[in-house]
Amino acid sequence: MRIPFIAGNWKMFKTRAEAAAFAEEFKALYQGTDVRAAICAPFTDLETLVEAFRGTGIGVGAQNVHFADEGAYTGEISVKMLEEIGVDYCIVGHSERRQYFAETDETVNLKLKKLLAGPIRPIMCVGESLEQRDAGELFDVVQRQLTEGLAGIPAEHRKRVVIAYEPIWAIGTGKSASAAEAGSIIGLSVRGTLAELFGEAAAQQVRIQYGGSVTVDNIAEYMAHPDIDGALVGGASLKPDFVDLVRNAIV
Ligand code: PGA
Repeated sequence: MRIPFIAGNWKMFKTRAEAAAFAEEFKALYQGTDVRAAICAPFTDLETLVEAFRGTGIGVGAQNVHFADEGAYTGEISVKMLEEIGVDYCIVGHSERRQYFAETDETVNLKLKKLLAGPIRPIMCVGESLEQRDAGELFDVVQRQLTEGLAGIPAEHRKRVVIAYEPIWAIGTGKSASAAEAGSIIGLSVRGTLAELFGEAAAQQVRIQYGGSVTVDNIAEYMAHPDIDGALVGGASLKPDFVDLVRNAIV
């Protein structure tokens, strides 16, 4: 059984004071909820959230990390720095980082390996652009991102990777992929590729989220699909009523 997991991705929103105010409200509303939830926040909010959510079961994630142990990389943050703060997750390879910050399958792979050597669980993002989809390249793109991104990950760590399938054209646009469409891509292209890479049994253990314009109103449809194990949620995670979306993820 794969445990449902909903992660919020705040992107570059919320100061520390705003994060603290969110956390107070959200953790009170979250009490008694059975769905695993996490907030992936800007670096400056992480310590505040880790302290606020201690003992609540709500996880905290970063949105990026560097793959080197340390060094002359102005503006970057290492895995050790995140581990010291006590974060649970780190998003790797989000399409906005691939598009604006030169993230490649190779750097995704280096980051995953570095994270998996310690306790932080990566949330690895894959997904096709509209042009790639229209050109019939969806499967090839997703297969390449998974194959190159997950190359050389030791067997014992594979099931600790969470995959988020996010079609780029659905991110922040209000144009979500239908649950049937997302579910079949996740089942055939994503879990299918994982089965080729890791074997069927291991592929069945990996949690795969859908992301792209997920809301309180459509989350239940996604969760009803047997291959969708959760969601990565941008815009709808910014207010404490995100808890309603988390609750609606129980099917
Ligand atoms: P969205 O973002 O929910 O605002 O579409 C999803 C994401 O970028 O992870």
